[in-house]
Amino acid sequence: MSETKRVLLIVSGGIAAYKSLELVRGLRKQGTGVRAILTNAGAQFVTPMSLASLSGDTVYDDLFSLTEESGMGHIQLSRDADLLVVAPASADIMAKMAHGLANDLATTALLATDKPILIAPAMNVRMWEHPATQANLGVLTSRGVLAVGPEEGDLACGEFGMGRMAEPETIVAAINGFFLNGERLNGRHALVTSGPTHEAIDPVRYIANRSSGKQGHAIATALAALGARTTLVSGPTSLPDPPGVSVVRVQSARDMLDACEAALPADIAVCAAAVADWRSAGEAPEKMKKTAGEALAPLALEENPDILRTLGAAGNRRPGLLIGFAAETENVIENATKKRISKGCDWILANDVSQATGTFGGDENTIHLVDQAGVENWPRLSKSAVADRLADRIADTLEATA
Ligand code: C5P
Repeated sequence: MSETKRVLLIVSGGIAAYKSLELVRGLRKQGTGVRAILTNAGAQFVTPMSLASLSGDTVYDDLFSLTEESGMGHIQLSRDADLLVVAPASADIMAKMAHGLANDLATTALLATDKPILIAPAMNVRMWEHPATQANLGVLTSRGVLAVGPEEGDLACGEFGMGRMAEPETIVAAINGFFLNGERLNGRHALVTSGPTHEAIDPVRYIANRSSGKQGHAIATALAALGARTTLVSGPTSLPDPPGVSVVRVQSARDMLDACEAALPADIAVCAAAVADWRSAGEAPEKMKKTAGEALAPLALEENPDILRTLGAAGNRRPGLLIGFAAETENVIENATKKRISKGCDWILANDVSQATGTFGGDENTIHLVDQAGVENWPRLSKSAVADRLADRIADTLEATA
């Protein structure tokens, strides 16, 4: 790791808080800076004094924030760190994070941060397995929060099962892995397109498709996590902005192309958007009126620009590694292979989007990666696992050619 990394450690309530002292010691021993926030519940288990002496820094709590906000506000606290670590992460703080609550210094810092977050959950097995906690975990991981553990074992409450906080050395290893990974695409600019486009018919109607943007957003998240400066050009979706990614929101295919061209040069471009192939040939300036009993004359459509093809033919502005998707409902590999050549891209990620696969709008995807060497068949994976695997393959490829 090139420079000293800084962790903002949030210690929430739970018997595992005593292990956080060991975590601070482990991080400091290897030269990682640690500053801690102790929640009121956390303070029932460890003292500010022990955290302060191990971290070598002031420990922040709600009392401190009330009196010293001008000196070290929650925004500054969360911005100063390279990574926020919540250990132990209780069911309560996970629920607050998932729902955006900010009623103490710790949750306010978590909501205000633009930095990545790692949690080490620790709780009773029934609390861990409760659908509410699992749903909260799903929300957090879909936003790019990393989770380490919990592990199975004897719990402080006397029960046995999942819920024991990962050991401090496991958390240190995860933090180191995160920092090392976070440098793989340092200095690279990645451009990602995501979501559908909306093509106006009149001021209130538009042509759209079923794309949710989940895959494209997950790819932007994964590339940013590897350290790439990432620009996400997104059509209309209901998804939150991925952390650490600069997002440009667009409506139509033509807006999307303009935004992509403005974002060049790029070392990597992943076109995951489901761009409308056609738009209305003449957007009506006023809302079109219906006449009772009369059918609407067929809507004239004209072709939209193909963003992937345009980037593929951009000469010296062409992204270094250009990747497209091919959503197919038949002859998936054959069509994708042809598309890779005709669009001038390096890799095509082909997927079957027939209704029965549930891929459009769903959380999983089955990818067949077509490159110059042939076809690589991936197992069915969550969209975030597809994104991580793709980002790793991109980093491997750029490292090999560097
Ligand atoms: O031709 P088809 O739509 O199947 O190609 C899919 C790939 O091309 C995807 O990567 C998609 O993002 C991209 N595409 C594009 N602009 C279009 C149509 C598709 O960038 N107008």
